[in-house]
Amino acid sequence: MIKKYTLAIETSCDDTSIAILDEYKVICCVTKDSTSELNSYGGVVPEIASRKHEEYILDVYKECLEKANISCNQIKYICYTNEPGLPGSLHVGEIFAKSLSFLLDIECYPINHIYSHIFSAFINSKDITYPFLSLIASGKTTSIFLIKSPQDIQELVKTKDDAIGETFDKVAKKLNLNYPGGPEIDKIFDKNKVLLNLPKQQIDNDFSFSGIKSHILRIIDQQSNSNILDIVVIASSFMDWAITTLTDKLKYFKEKYNVENVCIGGGVASNSLFKERIKFLFKSSYVPQKEYSCDNAAMIGYFFYHLYLSKNN
Ligand code: KG4
Repeated sequence: MIKKYTLAIETSCDDTSIAILDEYKVICCVTKDSTSELNSYGGVVPEIASRKHEEYILDVYKECLEKANISCNQIKYICYTNEPGLPGSLHVGEIFAKSLSFLLDIECYPINHIYSHIFSAFINSKDITYPFLSLIASGKTTSIFLIKSPQDIQELVKTKDDAIGETFDKVAKKLNLNYPGGPEIDKIFDKNKVLLNLPKQQIDNDFSFSGIKSHILRIIDQQSNSNILDIVVIASSFMDWAITTLTDKLKYFKEKYNVENVCIGGGVASNSLFKERIKFLFKSSYVPQKEYSCDNAAMIGYFFYHLYLSKNN
C-alpha cells in the first residue's frame, strides 16, 4: 500500500474539520460545527468549543477516511492548525495530530490558520500566480495581505478593534437574528432597502468596526423605542456599508502596490454581495468555493502543499 495522502486537521475555533488531500487536490473534507450548541449563547464559548472538538474529532476522522476510501496506512503527512485560535480548541487538534503521527510513524507539521484562508481561493489548483493581494474577512480577522510566495506573506492593513464577521454577528444579535449573524443578514439583504446614510471610513488607515457597531446598535435602540424598527432596512444598510468598506480598501491597496490578482477568504467571503462586487470590480479575482470560505481542514492541507510539497514536485 503506497503512502501518499495528506491528512489535515482544523480545530482553531468551533469547527472540527478533517480533510484528506492527494497533493493539492482535496479528496474529502468532513466538518462538524457546534453552532447549534452555541446559538443559545449568541457566540462562541471557548470552553464549550474545546469540549465539542474532543467529543467530535474521532468520528470526524473515521468518517473522512471512510468517505475518501483510504486506510490510515496510506497517509504520508499530517498537518494541523497551530495558530492563531482558541488555545483549548487548538490543543485538541494538536494532541490528535501528534498522537496519530506517533502511531503511524510519520511527520506532523504545524500550519498557520490565516495563511491557509489566504490560499483557500485557489484550492485544487496546482499553480498559483504571484504576487497577489488577499483580503481575509472572518469572525476574528479583517486584514489585507500581499503574498509574494508561501514563505513571503506581508500584512498591509488590519482591524484595530472588532473584526467584520464579529460586527455582523453583533448587529444580527441585536436584531434578534440567529448566530452566526452574517448568513442571517445576507439572507434578508434587499438592495432596494439600503436607506441609512452611514459614515465612510478613511481609506489609507487600518480597518475599524467598533464605531459603526455602536452607531448601528444605537439606531436599533432608538427605532425600537419609537416602535418603528425596520430590520430589513438596518440589516441591508449595514451589509452594503460593510462590503463597500472592504472593497474600497482592497481597491486602494491594489492600486498602491500595483498588483494584478486579488482574492478574498474567511467566513465573510461567502457573502453574496461581497462575491458579486469582487467579481465586478477586479478583472483577475479569486473567491473560495462556499465550503472553503468558513473554517475547514481542506485549506490547511492545501496551504501545507504549497508551503512544503510543491517545491519537490
Ligand atoms: O472564517 P470563519 O468560519 O471563522 C471565524 O473566524 O470564526 O468566519 C465566521 C464568520 C462569522 O462571523 C459569520 O457571521 C461570518 O463569518 N459569515 C458571514 C457570512 N457567512 C459567514 N458574514 C457575512 N455574510 C455571510 N454570508
